[in-house]
Amino acid sequence: MLQKKVLLTEDEMPRQWYNILPDMPNGMLPPLHPGTGQPVGPDDLAPIFPMNLIEQEVSPQRWIDIPEPVLEKYAYYRPSPLGRAYSLEQFLQTPAKIYFKNEGVSPAGSHKPNTAIPQAYYNKIFGTKRIATETGAGQWGSAMSFAGALFDLEVKVYMVRISFDQKPYRRLMMNTWGATCVPSPSPDTNAGRKILEQNPDSPGSLGIAISEAVEDAVTTPDSKYALGSVLNHVMLHQTIIGLEAQKQMEKIGEYPDIVIGCAGGGSNFAGLALPYILDKIHGKQVQVIAVEPASCPTMTRGPFVYDFGDTAQTTPLMPMHSLGHAFIPAPIHAGGLRYHGMAPIVSQLIMDKMIEPRAVFQLETFAAGVAWARTEGFIPAPETNHALAAVIQEAKKCKEEGKAKTILVNWSGHGLVDLMAYNAYFEGKLFDYEMPDDEIQQALMALENFPKCPVR
Ligand SMILES: Cc1ncc(COP(=O)(O)O)c(C=O)c1O
Repeated sequence: MLQKKVLLTEDEMPRQWYNILPDMPNGMLPPLHPGTGQPVGPDDLAPIFPMNLIEQEVSPQRWIDIPEPVLEKYAYYRPSPLGRAYSLEQFLQTPAKIYFKNEGVSPAGSHKPNTAIPQAYYNKIFGTKRIATETGAGQWGSAMSFAGALFDLEVKVYMVRISFDQKPYRRLMMNTWGATCVPSPSPDTNAGRKILEQNPDSPGSLGIAISEAVEDAVTTPDSKYALGSVLNHVMLHQTIIGLEAQKQMEKIGEYPDIVIGCAGGGSNFAGLALPYILDKIHGKQVQVIAVEPASCPTMTRGPFVYDFGDTAQTTPLMPMHSLGHAFIPAPIHAGGLRYHGMAPIVSQLIMDKMIEPRAVFQLETFAAGVAWARTEGFIPAPETNHALAAVIQEAKKCKEEGKAKTILVNWSGHGLVDLMAYNAYFEGKLFDYEMPDDEIQQALMALENFPKCPVR
């Protein structure tokens, strides 16, 4: 019998996360205070995040110990399996070997608990009682609600309106774990009220929901804000994915030629890719591909600029690929990929030519998801389908070129709560959207007077 999965025991789970900051080939630009234009210090972030997470955000330490209580909670679902997609390979008639790291096995159904658990833990020991956060597709909100339940923290989630309407089961998952979930824009914050006054039917965006959650956290006693992607400490926590994958592939004597992940804010992609980028920095040949929707082409068409992380301009200015903080993406079903910016670490590594960004269209992503489900069984999340579309592109290229490359993909989450999106696809109701150039230029005008990222 062919070996379908490579498993690690709980004892073999990595005990440290990998922090790429000290290894960045050209360093990192600092986040800037929007008022002074100066780099933000830990104190500027203190109203929003607990100091122990702020320390991780800027840590120069390469390896950071995973606390025992976090390991215990990780063990609910980690180590996650590494699978080999033999049936998809056969279906595609490709000589490529396709491996997938299955992050859909967590209670929330995606990679998001890998950072929700440590964020809840660090908040708990800091003394936080309540977390305010936002969610796009609902994956992060569910993960934070699950982690809040594990560490006895109250959680309030601002969920992007379009996803709130499309995915009622996500809200119910959050409620089941004891959290409150409201559609964003909401009447609960100044930021939300302002948007609703201008457009009562606003579909919302991650940028708006972040503004609401940050405002909530800084105006409510004993509350902090938690972000499910983009920030350095989130990328750090997610490296458990790539570190496990390296151990698993080593067990079977494999090393990937190509590493692929979808990227919304960049966290699942970075979680798998960063340990391989460390190898690449040390001379290993590995192609690393980050995949985004053509309708929200942050990495492929957004410039590397200083921009706000949210619509109401409450966050520091971050150096990132961005379509402008006011950008509201088309209502595609991959809600977790509808974000105007990209993690500064991922953005800088694109500038450093370590990562290759790629955009794919919605219909191709659903075709890939359906092909996956009909061969490999697991039904992928619409976000994950973006990575799978690129896997199929690469596997077909291998067939054309007669090359047996080894492809490793981050299977970031299951789509069991996204079946209405599949239904819309089956009924022919989904379309390919491509951002017109003039709309991108229009959205970027808001950044004209912002500090510029020096080219290095
Ligand atoms: C299953 C899944 N994959 C990917 C993403 C994209 O987020 P990130 O780029 O931070 O991994 C999301 C976000 O909600 C998600 O739910």
